[in-house]
Amino acid sequence: MRKSFFLTVLAGAALLAACSRPAPVAQDGSDLWLAAGRPYADILASVETTIDPALPAEAFHIYDADGQRHVAAGSEAGLRYGVYALQRAEVLGQAGPGMDVQEQPRYALRLLNHWDNLDDTVERGYAGESMWEWTSPTIPEARIRRYGELCASVGLNGAVLNNVNSNPLILDAEHIARVAKIADILREYGIKTYLSIKWTSPIALSGLKSGDPLNPQVRQWWKDKAAEIYKAIPDFGGFLVKANSEGQAGPQDYGRTHADGANMLGEAVAPYGGIVMWRAFVYSPTSPDRANQAVEEFLPLDGKFADNVIVQIKNGPVDFQPREPFSPLFGQLKDTQMMMEFQITQEYLGFSNHLAYLGTMWEECLQSDTYRDGPGTPVSKTISAIAGVANTGQDANFCGYVFAQANWYAFGRLAWDPELSAEQIADEWIRQTFLKPDGMTDKAFEGKFIEPVRDILMASREAVVDYEMPVGLHHLFGGTHYGPAPWDRLGRPDWTPAYYHQADSAGIGFDRTRSGSDNVDQYNEPLASQYNDLATCPENLLLWFHHMPWDYQMASGRTVWDEICLHYDAGIRQVEAFRQTWAGLKPYVAPALWEETARKLEIQQHDGEWWRDANVGYFQQINGLPLPADVRPLDTPIDSLIYRQVRSDRLGMPIHDENNRPIIVAPRFRRP
Ligand code: GCU
Repeated sequence: MRKSFFLTVLAGAALLAACSRPAPVAQDGSDLWLAAGRPYADILASVETTIDPALPAEAFHIYDADGQRHVAAGSEAGLRYGVYALQRAEVLGQAGPGMDVQEQPRYALRLLNHWDNLDDTVERGYAGESMWEWTSPTIPEARIRRYGELCASVGLNGAVLNNVNSNPLILDAEHIARVAKIADILREYGIKTYLSIKWTSPIALSGLKSGDPLNPQVRQWWKDKAAEIYKAIPDFGGFLVKANSEGQAGPQDYGRTHADGANMLGEAVAPYGGIVMWRAFVYSPTSPDRANQAVEEFLPLDGKFADNVIVQIKNGPVDFQPREPFSPLFGQLKDTQMMMEFQITQEYLGFSNHLAYLGTMWEECLQSDTYRDGPGTPVSKTISAIAGVANTGQDANFCGYVFAQANWYAFGRLAWDPELSAEQIADEWIRQTFLKPDGMTDKAFEGKFIEPVRDILMASREAVVDYEMPVGLHHLFGGTHYGPAPWDRLGRPDWTPAYYHQADSAGIGFDRTRSGSDNVDQYNEPLASQYNDLATCPENLLLWFHHMPWDYQMASGRTVWDEICLHYDAGIRQVEAFRQTWAGLKPYVAPALWEETARKLEIQQHDGEWWRDANVGYFQQINGLPLPADVRPLDTPIDSLIYRQVRSDRLGMPIHDENNRPIIVAPRFRRP
C-alpha cells in the first residue's frame, strides 16, 4: 500500500517535470533574425498604411488612431522599414496599445560591400561561395529576395555587389545585363545596386593606352560606360573604388591625385544622380608608419572632392584589427564627405568560427570623440554614410555561423541609428533569432537564456582581443589572417607582424609618440597629448602608441610582460566560461543550433590556446622571461608552432581535426 502510494507520487512528479520541461523549437538558423514574430505579410495586412509626403522619404510613423494601427511613411521604402520596425517591436513586447514611434535613419547611405569575385570565390568570405552565383546561368532569385528582406528589416538601402579588388569584366555588357537583373530584384526591397570598378578598366576592356584621369579619351570612356550602365539600371547607385592601394592601379600612376581620379568618375555618373565612394585604404611603402599614411595622402586634398564623391574610410588606421583607435582621418577632414567602412566579415576575428559580437567594437568607434569641431564630435557625427564589408555567402544560414548573423544585424541597426547601444542591439537580436521553447514562460526564457546569451555576446569581442593581441598589440597574423605569426618578418615590412610589435630583448610596441612616428599628432587635442603621454594613454592601446620596456609597470602594478601573459590567459578562460554557459543552455536551443555553437566554441578555445602558445612562447624566446605565477603553463612548445600556420581549404577556411583542434602545418615556403 505504502509502496504503491510512493510510486504514484513519483510517477506524478516525473509527469509534472516532463510537462514543465521546455521543448526547444526546431530551427536551423536559416531564418536569421526573422525567425520570431509574425510574418511581414501578416503585419502589413493588419495595419492601415499611408504615404505621407510631409515625412522624409525613409521615415516612418507607427501609431494608433480610430481603433486601428497605422503605419505612415514618406515612401514605399519608409513603409517597409515601418512594418519591419513594428514586427520587431512585437517580438520585443513594445507594440502594445497606444504605440507611437517615429523614426528616420541617421545616414542616407547604408550599404553592404560584398567582396565577391566573378569566379564565385569571396575575398575574406567565410560562408561559402558568392551569394550572387556569378558563374551560374541563372540568378539565385529566392536567395536574393531573402537577402532583400533581411537588409530591409534593418534599414540597409544599398549593396556593392563585387570585390573592391575588382575584375574589369564586371563592366562588360554581359555582366551589366546580369547586374541589372539583380538590381531589379533588390529594388523591390529599397536597395540600390552599386559596383566596384577597376581603375584600368578602359585599358582592359577597350584597349585604351592610358588610365590618366585627365586624358579626354579616358574621361569619355567612363562617361560612355556610365551611360551604358544607367540605360540598363536607371537607379544605379554608383562606383566604389580601390585605387593606388595594395597593387591596384590608380590616378597616382599617371601623376594625378586621388581627387583627380574620384572627380573624373564623379563627373561621369553625376548626370544620373550617381555617386563615387573613393576608399582611403591607401598606404605607400615609403612612409615610415602605415598608420600615418591615409592622413598624409588625403589631408592635402580636403575640400577638393566633387559633391558626389565620398571618401570611404576604414574604422581604424591600419586594417580591421580586433582593436584599433579610430582612424585619425575622421578628425582631420573638414570639407570632404566621409563614409565609415566597418568589416562585418571577421577577417581578423576568427572568421565564421569564433563568436565575436562586433556591436561593441563599432559602438566604441562611433562614440569616440574626435574633437574635430570641439569636444562632443564623435566619429558618428563626422560621417554622412556607412558601409560594412558583408559576411554573406551561399551557406543556408548566409553567414556560416548563427552568431555571425548578429554582426550583420548589428551593422544594419547602427547604420540606421548610431546612438543605439551594442547591448540593446544584442538583446534585440537574441529575441528575434532564438525561438522560445514550448512550455517555457517569458520570464524563465529571459533569465535562463536571453540574459546569459547577451552576456556572452557582450564579453565576446574583448575575449578575442585578449587571446589574439592584448594591450594594444596588433597585426600579429600570418598570411591566412587566421592564427598567429609574430615571427613573420619576410617581405614588405608593413605586411609583417614584426613591424607592428617591434619586440626585442628590451621591450615591445610601436612607438607612435612624438619621439616615434608622431602618429599621435594626427589626432586633435586633447587626444594627441593623451595618447602621447604614458600617464594618460589608455592601457588597451598602450603598445599601439608606445614601445615599452618589458618591465614597465602598469596600473595593476604588474609589468607589461606579466600583463600580456595574463590577458592571453584571461581570453581563453573567458571562452571556457562561454562553453560552460552554453552547455547549460542545451534545454532551450534547437539541437542544430546548440550543436553548431558548442562545436565552434570548442574550436574557438583551441584556437585561442594556439594563439597564446605561439605569441607568448615567441615573445619569451625574445625576452627570456618566465610566465607569471598565476598564469597557466603553455600547452604547446614554441618549437612546434614557429613558422607554421593552419591548413586551409580551397576557400581559405581553416581545417580542424576531429577534436576541433587546428591542423598546424609548415607553410609552402619555409621561413628562415
Ligand atoms: C585587407 C584584406 C584584403 C582587402 C583589403 C582592402 O588588406 O586582407 O583582402 O582587399 O583589406 O580592404 O582593400
